[in-house]
Amino acid sequence: MKGVVLAGGLGSRLYPLTHATNKHLLPVYDMPMVFYPIRTLVQAGITEILIVTGGPHAGDFMGVLRNGKELGVTHLEYAYQDNEGGIAAALSLCEDFADNENIAVILGDNTTDASISDAVQRFREGAMVFLRQVSDPERFGVPVFDAEDASRIIAIEEKPDQPKSNYAVTGLYLYDARVFDFIKTLEPSARGELEITDVNNAYIERGELQWAELDGFWSDAGTFESLFRSNVFWAQRSTGRAAEDFDAYL
Ligand code: DAU
Repeated sequence: MKGVVLAGGLGSRLYPLTHATNKHLLPVYDMPMVFYPIRTLVQAGITEILIVTGGPHAGDFMGVLRNGKELGVTHLEYAYQDNEGGIAAALSLCEDFADNENIAVILGDNTTDASISDAVQRFREGAMVFLRQVSDPERFGVPVFDAEDASRIIAIEEKPDQPKSNYAVTGLYLYDARVFDFIKTLEPSARGELEITDVNNAYIERGELQWAELDGFWSDAGTFESLFRSNVFWAQRSTGRAAEDFDAYL
């Protein structure tokens, strides 16, 4: 399977930090943020990777990642997203790279110590999302479970005022090649973006969305709080320092 890291957008929630560089190149403890999602893919055996980025600092990626070899990437491509049209708009730029094969997609500001290796090996068709219980589901895509069969997701709601579960749909997804056809049918949402949640709902309508729970730490890093939480977790993990030094932030 090939992999895609979506690292576009302006990172405006992190201004003034993101005036000088792209959000995904900001430090998360001792590495640039984008190293973490790349490592998650490489650890799952995915070493052909396309990075989609955009905005005024897109060129900085090449200086940091070069050809990706240091991270175990065997083939690294870059694509430029012209506007900040949403996650599904960024993904639409990956059709030629995917070349009718299944793809693993990860958001460039998501870090996790969980492995997606088994899911990647088992995945054949349809779509797969990875869920994680959170205390603030209203910040995320939130799955609605079937009242009669709790293993079935009947819809995903994007940033609902009243979440119907306490799970977040994390920014890791597996898709078959039909994903690009579904994106072509999307209309911009109220926030003016092509939403990845609408893509996932297209698979749900066809009964073809599978899910798994991520086992371990997961966080986005698009706000000061979540960026700080990610830094604290990875500092703790890398240094082996006592948990109580950091627990207040996890
Ligand atoms: O972190 C998981 C959440 O990510 C999911 O639960 C939501 O369903 C999903 O919509 C998304 O929510 P956010 O609103 O937090 O996404 P954000 O706009 O922060 O974008 C996340 C990443 O996606 C960003 O780090 C880079 C990439 N992106 C985003 C946009 C808007 C792009 O590559 N291009 C874009 O135009």
